[in-house]
Amino acid sequence: ETFQEASGLSLKEKKLAQILDIKKVIIVPGDVNIESSTTQLLGKEASEYLTAVAKKDNTVAITGGSTVAALTSFLSPTKSLSALTFIAARGSLGNEMNLQANTLVSQFASKCGAEFRTLYLPENLSENAFATMVKEPMVKEVLDFYDDIDIVIHGIGSANEMAHRRNSNEAIINMLNEKNAVGEAFGYYFDETGEIIYRINTIGIQLEQVKQSPHIVAVAGGSLKAKAIQAYFKIDGTKQTVLITDEGAANAILEK
Ligand code: BG6
Repeated sequence: ETFQEASGLSLKEKKLAQILDIKKVIIVPGDVNIESSTTQLLGKEASEYLTAVAKKDNTVAITGGSTVAALTSFLSPTKSLSALTFIAARGSLGNEMNLQANTLVSQFASKCGAEFRTLYLPENLSENAFATMVKEPMVKEVLDFYDDIDIVIHGIGSANEMAHRRNSNEAIINMLNEKNAVGEAFGYYFDETGEIIYRINTIGIQLEQVKQSPHIVAVAGGSLKAKAIQAYFKIDGTKQTVLITDEGAANAILEK
């Protein structure tokens, strides 16, 4: 990478931070929608950021997804990482076993020599099942962790893709279309103005609990996610989130 390219990127980081009205943006070269290897660059930056902010005995909530999964190969048992507890931010995601938060926390923990907590509950529970499950002591133990999370690392998805990946039914997909859902993060679907329009009935971290966390890191790239990323930062209370993204998404937002 030449000096010019590097300084071009840091200029873009500043511009994007200005547009999104946030403090910190990190942009990696490429576009995950064109070269999937760009996801690895996002994972590398996110793991470096985690290493920089992590303190002994911190709790780290992580979501699933291919982008967060990309941190795995860059984690190692350093002093700051080995004393962490990784906590699955949510229940499972349909049948995509290797992208689930539950799977990722155990992989992160084994790479770092750290602790982890899982939440083995399906998404899309019925109202009744949901109400019963949250009272179970084993579930409650993990839910109590959510009140005091030091670091949140999460992906951002485009609403349509996530609804399909979760095998959501026709009625929900139609409702998301009617209400113009553009993005999704930790089970919350939102429109272009950052208004939450739907939340899947799932056990997981609440938006209010995410906002209380001193470090929130969103990792998401690709021009196809530009709208979702921009909308996420319109959600009330997300201005403290650090964005790690790629040039594909950054250019699409900057060129609008
Ligand atoms: C999911 C998260 O696991 O991954 C979502 O719960 C996120 O919050 C999604 O939107 C993003 O996935 P990917 O594969 O595009 O990084």
